[in-house]
Amino acid sequence: MMQIAILGFGVVGSGTAEVLAENKKLITAHCGDEVSVKYILDLREFPDHPLGDRVVHDINVILNDPEVVLVAEMMGGSHPAYEFSAAALKAGKHVVTSNKEVIANFGVELLALARENHVCYLFEASVGGGIPIIRPMQTDLASNQILAVSGILNGTTNFILTKMKNEGAEFAEVLKEAQAKGYAEANPAADVEGLDAARKIVILAALAYGVLIDPKTIPTEGITKITGLHTATADKLGGAVKLIGHTEKIDGKIYAGVSPYFVPASNPISHVDDVFNGILVDTNMLGRALFYGAGAGKLPTASAVVADIIDVLSRRAEERRLPEWKNASAADVAQKGDYACRRCYVIDGCPKCAEKAKTALGADGFETVADGKFAIISRVMSEQEAEAAIAATGVSVVFCLPVLD
Ligand code: HSE
Repeated sequence: MMQIAILGFGVVGSGTAEVLAENKKLITAHCGDEVSVKYILDLREFPDHPLGDRVVHDINVILNDPEVVLVAEMMGGSHPAYEFSAAALKAGKHVVTSNKEVIANFGVELLALARENHVCYLFEASVGGGIPIIRPMQTDLASNQILAVSGILNGTTNFILTKMKNEGAEFAEVLKEAQAKGYAEANPAADVEGLDAARKIVILAALAYGVLIDPKTIPTEGITKITGLHTATADKLGGAVKLIGHTEKIDGKIYAGVSPYFVPASNPISHVDDVFNGILVDTNMLGRALFYGAGAGKLPTASAVVADIIDVLSRRAEERRLPEWKNASAADVAQKGDYACRRCYVIDGCPKCAEKAKTALGADGFETVADGKFAIISRVMSEQEAEAAIAATGVSVVFCLPVLD
């Protein structure tokens, strides 16, 4: 019997217990022995749960029990999840987590602690919910240089954008539904303001480039300013508005950011709807790979946590595979203004203004998207260059979205 502890018995924590119970036979076969949940750490009691008698309220009970070989941290938030994870690693216990906030803020320190203590620290469930993305980036794509990673990384906002597009639903109403389904963060502002996606893209950037950028410092815009005009424009141009986390290298520096994009129908990401996430990894040998699946929710996310548990307990996750990251300094990070892509400008005015904007942006043409509103898609330009070009025309810009080709 291999004893583990679950920290945090919310949506993902209780889902992890469910996956372990439901798939017990195959998990035992993978691990070579039965996996048993000896403790559940939570502030609450769960008297009606079959594992209700395992609940403890003091982390030291877990830390001081030599039978516990692995701790699955699913508390959410930075504190005390970071302190508990660090203490577990120091106590020689493997840690697996779904907690993107902790990885994004303390990944460098916790991975170093894991190495020092000869244990594993795995975090497959932290990005993309149940989608395998962390392990494939570390293993299957190891022979490639990563040119860029672009993804729909937040299920809640994708669920909201999809319902707004297909059903014309109200933002607040759809958010409530996402919360009820267990997709949203405890504070859903983290979803709709793009902070959750920012944490996830810095984790993917660190996997790609070995440098962990503070998620609070990257350009981050959520979906709260998305209107019917954005959706109508995307419809007219053929594609969708999606909240995208993107990272790439610009002149040897790392750019990472989150914002709504116009994604043309030719990009498979434009068809990733509802709570699903889709992550495109552009590489120099394989080319483009798409990772797709349920990006949030109890059992999908828990399945990724349990995959890490199996990886550790079956001894497939060797210490040597832990990534060695460093924290970013200002010199490592590219400026937002240098990020080059095509951009979709919607301007207010007359066809003559649209003609002017079209010429300035090196566009092929323009589309009328509403009365007196025209959409122009620029050639590939840095943000700085595009903004200067449009400002010089004097036309009135309603909004501008980067385009994900
Ligand atoms: N709130 C997150 C989302 C949960 O909606 O994607 C999964 O990280």
